[in-house]
Amino acid sequence: MTTRELDKRSIALAFDRAAPTYEAHDVLQREVAARLLERLDYTTVQPSRVLDLGAGTGRCARALAGRYRKALITECDLAPAMLRMSRERAPRWFSRHRYVCADVEALPFAAGAFELIVSSLSLQWCEALPAAFGEARRTLREGGLFLFSTLGPDTLKELRAASAAVDESPRVNRFIDMHVIGDALGAAGFADPVMEAERITVEYDDAMTLLRDLKGLGATNAQSGRARGLLARRRLQALVAAYEPFRRDGKMPATYEVVYGHAWAAPQRPAKGPTEQVFPLSQLRRR
Ligand SMILES: C[S@@+](CC[C@H](N)C(=O)[O-])C[C@H]1O[C@@H](n2cnc3c(N)ncnc32)[C@H](O)[C@@H]1O
Repeated sequence: MTTRELDKRSIALAFDRAAPTYEAHDVLQREVAARLLERLDYTTVQPSRVLDLGAGTGRCARALAGRYRKALITECDLAPAMLRMSRERAPRWFSRHRYVCADVEALPFAAGAFELIVSSLSLQWCEALPAAFGEARRTLREGGLFLFSTLGPDTLKELRAASAAVDESPRVNRFIDMHVIGDALGAAGFADPVMEAERITVEYDDAMTLLRDLKGLGATNAQSGRARGLLARRRLQALVAAYEPFRRDGKMPATYEVVYGHAWAAPQRPAKGPTEQVFPLSQLRRR
């Protein structure tokens, strides 16, 4: 198995384990999803087929179903337990709903299958953003809307610094800059991309509560260099102590750089035709 497959498996496993606790820790995710979906108020899209990429326990999908009552909503996630949790939480009136366990970088849907694709705080888990954007473009109908939120490089900067002071094993994922994301959208065949970023600071009483939140969400580091297993007690104490200098007004801040983006599925460029034609010699002679 390749490192990439191993990482995907460990991401799926972490989110599988977190599925029962996720909604007890998702204050930020809930807020970001609400801010993301508000952006739909300024569009006139009336989709009949909607895809939620990295749907988790289905908070976004439930809001989308309320917004577009007649639409078929597809929830897609790498972690089967997340989808099971979402199905359990679905209200009775959800008749036009389906759940698909798949990787956003290799979607099992036909080209042009959706008119709207939404993804909230999931794309930062992708190995290759261009692959995910390519799949979003392929499965969107021409003129369809892709709306997403993800995390930028300043995310959890305090934890990153505290962790670097303790040892060299990274405990915070690397996040991609908003401008790079915008360029990747264009390269994948999206038009008129709009990118925005905002910083949201979540305040904790102590660093341990932040770490518990991250674990409860399944947001454990997927980088292969990560130390495996539970943090040794001594290292955990060192990490908590190294976070202490960030305390402000008695509270421990955790910064999130939230990136919002949307873009429209541009017409696909026609594939280039052959530049030369080959005929058997006999046919040429006849001609
Ligand atoms: C932080 S949760 C966000 C869930 C939901 N969108 C929300 O706003 O609450 C990230 C989700 O992305 C999923 N995920 C991570 N990598 C994925 C991938 N490559 N393909 C599909 N889903 C993925 C995880 O399983 C998890 O459910």
